[in-house]
Amino acid sequence: MLNMGGPERLEDVHDFLLRLFLDTDLMKLPAQSRLAPIIARRRAPRIQEQYSRIGGGSPIRKWTALQGEAMVQLLDSMSPHTAPHKYYIGFRYVHPLTEEAIEEMEEDGIERAVAFTQYPQYSCSTTGSSLNAIYRYYRHKGAKPRMKWSIIDRWPTHPLLIRCFADHIQKELALFPADRRDDVVILFSAHSLPMAVVNRGDPYPQEVGATVQRVMEELQYSHPYRLVWQSKVGPMPWLGPPTDDTIKGLCQRGKRNLLLVPIAFTSDHIETLYELDIEYGQVLANECGVENIRRAESLNGNPLFSKALAELVSSHLQARRACSRQFTLCCPLCTNPVCRESKAFFSSQAP
Ligand code: FES
Repeated sequence: MLNMGGPERLEDVHDFLLRLFLDTDLMKLPAQSRLAPIIARRRAPRIQEQYSRIGGGSPIRKWTALQGEAMVQLLDSMSPHTAPHKYYIGFRYVHPLTEEAIEEMEEDGIERAVAFTQYPQYSCSTTGSSLNAIYRYYRHKGAKPRMKWSIIDRWPTHPLLIRCFADHIQKELALFPADRRDDVVILFSAHSLPMAVVNRGDPYPQEVGATVQRVMEELQYSHPYRLVWQSKVGPMPWLGPPTDDTIKGLCQRGKRNLLLVPIAFTSDHIETLYELDIEYGQVLANECGVENIRRAESLNGNPLFSKALAELVSSHLQARRACSRQFTLCCPLCTNPVCRESKAFFSSQAP
């Protein structure tokens, strides 16, 4: 189960940031190996403060473990001929790191491995970075994997994922005052990307859009909606409209009943618990005179979501494919040679 992970304790924040700023698949900085430690040191206190406001750490490991447990139990009964199933967590920036998970799997004598991205929509900065990390692990070792790998690289429109999002939206809509419910604007908020990444042909914006469209179809377009983008960092241009500007803009135009829906992450993390709930839901909402603002719950421990994960793995195993066709195509303007090598590595792992 691949994901970026988040610091579980305040003392883990610095190392989390350091790994993140050193990740050349996520960002390219001048003199990155020298600059990353400086940026990580500078940013750590502010990010620690944010984590202390949400209980002192990220809950992502707790939720991933819970989802993984439920997923493998379901899988054992859905797909007995491939049982027993076991899940491993591979985080990009905190323990258990992707490389540690592979090590453990190799030691456990696993025969068949599925690298299962926990980001429903594919970006080279997220899923791509995790898959490149697996490829680099073997390249660095100079050894072939003992187990057969395949990958679930994207699942933006899986019917149960869509049902879960729609359920959580409907549950939250029901909590608006009855006389305001009809006025609610649904804001689907996803982590933004630098325009430099979008413009090299990253599939993420289109795949997030596909999720939004399916969810709205499921809701029979009951409310007006927009897809907005949060968490921009630094001075360079990023994909917009930004979530905070959208909240302000809608309030100025008399739309003061808003439902925020995190659409690109399935478990709670700092961008939901701090950025959406505190920064926007409390501070910004007060400043711009929001009437009612709510946030749809993340999918976290929803049993239907664990079923979605189990169904994804089960149908993937049945299909006997190494990866999706879409995965085999590099971004049209990709300049990272590792992407091509890692795609060739996974494509050749015919299960
Ligand atoms: Fe997308 Fe390399 S950046 S394939």
